[in-house]
Amino acid sequence: MGLPWRIAIDGPAASGKSTLGQRLAAPPGYLYVDTGVMYRAVTWAALRRGVPIADEAALTGLAETLDLDIAPPTVQDGRLYTVRVDGEDVTWDLRRPEVDAAVSQVSAYPGVRRALTRRQRQIGLRGRVVMVGRDIGTVVLPEADLKIYLDARLETRAWRRYQELQARGADVPFEAVLETMRQRDALDQGREVAPLRPAPDAVVLDTTALDIEGVFQKVLDLIAARCRETSHVAG
Ligand code: DC
Repeated sequence: MGLPWRIAIDGPAASGKSTLGQRLAAPPGYLYVDTGVMYRAVTWAALRRGVPIADEAALTGLAETLDLDIAPPTVQDGRLYTVRVDGEDVTWDLRRPEVDAAVSQVSAYPGVRRALTRRQRQIGLRGRVVMVGRDIGTVVLPEADLKIYLDARLETRAWRRYQELQARGADVPFEAVLETMRQRDALDQGREVAPLRPAPDAVVLDTTALDIEGVFQKVLDLIAARCRETSHVAG
């Protein structure tokens, strides 16, 4: 079964996008790209440099010029990739609660989106790519061959994120995780530029009652069905 050339996966936080994307991109030669990491890296750099998050022009400048490198994992500590900003490994810093709290505001700035969308399109257009984010099917790669939109109940997603944080030793109360996620959902869905929503031709999957394996199987079935349809039409 051939994997589609360009796969776009969108959806809210903790809907299962990263795990699905990473598994789909397993065949040799396929690249997994988590675009959220880029918005997080810009946010992290602003916090580190003391740039006020409300300073839209400064944040846009940062997104345009940031020395950002996303490479295969350099350490076997559960990471899916290594992210470097100015040569410094910031992979886990990008998941800190203060980045979580500010990243939706940063990603709502049109200038930031323009700069990062340009970087993402350059990667996506090369093909053999599974790209994960909020606006991949709608804005970054509208020409994707397969578009999947994952969703799940807010409480379920907050619980997944809470467990991830606990596993990494971050002691944040569940209610705080839930509240941050509620706010991020509202900002991601309500922003003017590239709001979070399914592309008209996306397949929408609700993962509330599914585990990782269940989601993966459903998508493999979908790809197989599409292959059959295409060969039927072609034959
Ligand atoms: O997927 P994530 O939680 O790492 O994303 C971090 C933030 O970046 C999230 O608030 C939404 C934003 N984002 C975006 O606006 N567009 C994307 N393509 C990816 C992420």
